Amino acid sequence: MVFKILTIALLLPPTIHFTLKFIKHKSLYPFMPFKYNFRRRRITFAKTLKLLDERHVKMIIETGTSREGLKNTKGDGAATFVFGKWAKQNNAKMHSVDISEESVKGAQDEVNRQDLNDTITVHLNDSLEFLKNFNETVDFLYLDSYDYSKTDKEIQVKSQEHHLKEFQIIEDKLHDNSIVLIDDCGLPGGGKGKTVVEYMRKKNWKVLIDAYQILLVKN
Ligand SMILES: C[S@@+](CC[C@H](N)C(=O)[O-])C[C@H]1O[C@@H](n2cnc3c(N)ncnc32)[C@H](O)[C@@H]1O
Repeated sequence: MVFKILTIALLLPPTIHFTLKFIKHKSLYPFMPFKYNFRRRRITFAKTLKLLDERHVKMIIETGTSREGLKNTKGDGAATFVFGKWAKQNNAKMHSVDISEESVKGAQDEVNRQDLNDTITVHLNDSLEFLKNFNETVDFLYLDSYDYSKTDKEIQVKSQEHHLKEFQIIEDKLHDNSIVLIDDCGLPGGGKGKTVVEYMRKKNWKVLIDAYQILLVKN
């Protein structure tokens, strides 16, 4: 079967290859340059950007920073620079926290390249520690730290518990108009969001989109 598909694919004319590639290219154009492919996050990023506009968001927190800057829109999402760009255009502030020195350096280099230092602060810290000490109101919370595993059940549970703890720590800084987006959910074992979304549903949060990412607002 695989051999058959490969043979058919090889026989397709170049125009069809180009068309297929074009269909698979999920850009956020015109907000982001067309060359960036946001793949499975396009739908949730687009809806989130719309909500940020509508709700006049002023404070954004991201756990787990864009360690490769804008290089990995397909794999990691590059959310720091999507939401950071929005923040700059809308006089909002963004804090992105990461436990790894290397990740922080990768993100900070891109912050410098994009001239986003007045908008985005990248913090080197455990997200739980950072959130405990954060004392301002949060309008948009993006949870994407503790790396998930598609196969290792222990890592899956640890990642899910970590994202639940993050939410519980910052919960009282959220308000009725806050937006929460959780990355890497559509994965075996329920992804990063499994446990935190169960908790949030009980606390009157409503799922707006349940795709690769889960987007929630208050009921
Ligand atoms: C998938 S990446 C984040 C991708 C980023 N949000 C983006 O959109 O490009 C996950 C990051 O979480 C960080 N991380 C893992 N455990 C963490 C923790 N306890 N506190 C803060 N960051 C953590 C990792 O170092 C890694 O850089």
